[in-house]
Amino acid sequence: MDPVRNPYAPGAGQRPPELAGRDGELEAFEVMLTRVGRGRPERSIVLTGLRGVGKTVLLNTLRSQAVRRGWGTGKVEARPDQSLRRPLSAALHLAVRELSAPASETEHVLGVLKSFALRHNQADTKVRDRWQPGIDVPVVAGRADSGDMEIDLVELLVDIGGLAGDCGKGVAVFLDEMQDLSAEDVSALCAAAHEISQAGLPFVVVGAGLPHLPAVLSASKSYSERLFRYARIDRLDREAADRALTAPAKEEDAEFTPDALDAMYEATAGYPYFVQEYGKTVWDVATRSPVTADDVRVAVPIAQSELAVGFFGSRYERATPAEREYLRAMADVLAQPRDATADEGLARADGDDAVPTAAVAALLGRKPQSLSPARDALIKKGLVYSAERGRIAFSVPHFGRYLRRQDG
Ligand SMILES: Nc1ncnc2c1ncn2[C@@H]1O[C@H](COP(=O)(O)OP(=O)(O)O)[C@@H](O)[C@H]1O
Ligand SMILES: [Mg+2]
Repeated sequence: MDPVRNPYAPGAGQRPPELAGRDGELEAFEVMLTRVGRGRPERSIVLTGLRGVGKTVLLNTLRSQAVRRGWGTGKVEARPDQSLRRPLSAALHLAVRELSAPASETEHVLGVLKSFALRHNQADTKVRDRWQPGIDVPVVAGRADSGDMEIDLVELLVDIGGLAGDCGKGVAVFLDEMQDLSAEDVSALCAAAHEISQAGLPFVVVGAGLPHLPAVLSASKSYSERLFRYARIDRLDREAADRALTAPAKEEDAEFTPDALDAMYEATAGYPYFVQEYGKTVWDVATRSPVTADDVRVAVPIAQSELAVGFFGSRYERATPAEREYLRAMADVLAQPRDATADEGLARADGDDAVPTAAVAALLGRKPQSLSPARDALIKKGLVYSAERGRIAFSVPHFGRYLRRQDG
């Protein structure tokens, strides 16, 4: 069908033509905005899930909801080995400006923010290397600039939350790839969010990250489970996956046969990234509406090779030879019948794609400790995660199958 009218949108952070299956989250967030606006206590939110399930686009949608309420918002994408102070300063600068509070009060808060931001420069940073935050007000020295992230964040967020409260609004910071924050920043952020919520100030954090993020947070602060509401973002159920395909098609006067929808769900398993990729491919393959199961059969290998380059390959390429060996061993363990590992006391729970690290080591004929460097590096690169001691899982859905196709 006409490629110009192809509605589907595969790609990280690409807004889907239809945000299917997330109504519950959108409604819960509306309730939270209203409650916080009325000074009611609310927990911050953390969205967790595998790569490609739609965390980033959901985060962006929640942000639009907050903006529609007149809230100040900012967004940070955490990166490994990068301190939070500088990107958070930029995000909060935007949030404060969006509040459009009276100039005199805003000026004070921006002065504190500037002082927080300038602390990014170390005492020995050369003048010409100093980062200038581009905040056009005098610095309020002595506030939020101790250099201790936790103290500074509390002081800054109290002031920003106070300003938002004064104008009857709120501030929300959206933190993507939250698992990549340093331990120090995670701990400071939890402590600050804790203080702010106890003070009843209208400030919330909305985080998103890989499935082990709750474990990272509770390792940092024991009270994090009371601080955050964890929402698992998962693959779409059959109905939602169908709607993600049919609603955008209908806008373009096209349809899918029921058999085509069966075949699509079998191929995508409801993973949003795959829904978009297969949807896009089958649209281009089909010569006319309705799209049939035969069209899907032709599209599947084409979509798979697209994914092999863009979704899987781009990540696989980041791994060193030793890390690739580890990944392939994980894929082989996953492909073993479940009771093959049970004999060695290494049983895998049903429906759980985490494999015992001991089974990976056994398959490679190596001592588990000797594989720790490869495993830790893969975790840092975001290719695998460990939500539970002694177990490891791919952060990318169907990654094991992709690796086995490569070998085969
Ligand atoms: N609810 C949804 N319905 C349909 N498509 C979606 C949905 N959520 C995400 N997508 C699509 O899935 C892909 C991945 O989304 P993204 O937010 O980048 O995932 P993540 O941040 O979890 O890796 C994008 O192409 C996006 O358009
Ligand atoms: Mg994302």
